[in-house]
Amino acid sequence: MNKLPPVVLPKIEFNREFAFSDADFERIRKLIYKEAGISLNPSKKDMVYGRLVRRIRELKLAGFAAYVDFLESIGGKREFEQFVNALTTNLTFFFREEHHFPLLAEHLKKKLASGANELSIWCAASSTGEEPYSLAITALEAAGPARANVTVLATDLDTSVLEVGRKGIYSADKIARLPPGHANKYFDKLPDGNYQAKAVLRNMITFQRLNLVETNWAVKRQFDAIFCRNVMIYFDRDTQFGVLKRFAPLLKPDGLLFVGHSENFYFASDYFHLRGKTVYEHAKKA
Ligand SMILES: C[S@@+](CC[C@H](N)C(=O)[O-])C[C@H]1O[C@@H](n2cnc3c(N)ncnc32)[C@H](O)[C@@H]1O
Repeated sequence: MNKLPPVVLPKIEFNREFAFSDADFERIRKLIYKEAGISLNPSKKDMVYGRLVRRIRELKLAGFAAYVDFLESIGGKREFEQFVNALTTNLTFFFREEHHFPLLAEHLKKKLASGANELSIWCAASSTGEEPYSLAITALEAAGPARANVTVLATDLDTSVLEVGRKGIYSADKIARLPPGHANKYFDKLPDGNYQAKAVLRNMITFQRLNLVETNWAVKRQFDAIFCRNVMIYFDRDTQFGVLKRFAPLLKPDGLLFVGHSENFYFASDYFHLRGKTVYEHAKKA
């Protein structure tokens, strides 16, 4: 009996609409690092394809090389916003890493007890707003009848998520993450079944674009607490160090810096000291 020769299939990465070479990926890696400080490792190549392919279709370009050429051209400057928005990871939810919220409440109550009547919190990678709304709720609950003037500055690099935050409209399944009783107290149910943050919350929060990697932040005041959670993981150590150094003068002397569960800044011990549970305070000066 004649044996059939083995079938040799050509090596196909997967059925891609556009060619995406390693050289294209490398150019994209460099651009997003320069623009947003985001370090993409090679395992993210498929993710990058998936996130940018819509831009290539929309702009009717021939492929990834043409897209990067366009970004680097004078006419492509305006595309940078879409490029960055597409490559940021915006996962967030109400009261994420919930152990931080009682610590914040305790800190704010202490400030109020010592005579403070203005409390300010900076949420430095606010994504679609669930985190700054959680902070505003915590501050209102902590202030109670004292009704101190509480302000939350919510910043992010991605302009599309800032827009979601400003509107403050969330689906019922997102709202379900709120502690019991908070949905009705702080959100209005809309006719379409979604929920919108009440004006009392929305008026406390200012949403503003801020790139953590840039050195000239338009933030000139000091905060009682800074939340910078689950964004530094995308930065390399030098970038993280630069951000922490710029945070230091913007945090009040007794202020607290809250970071994400997998972020550790032992290398910035000249500026911040770990107080515990991913909460930092100013380093003691010798
Ligand atoms: C994974 S989300 C974390 C959101 C929220 N802090 C939390 O912990 O749930 C990371 C956010 O960081 C933002 N981001 C990424 N690079 C940034 C940069 N260079 N400056 C400011 N925000 C940035 C992204 O747009 C995204 O909304």
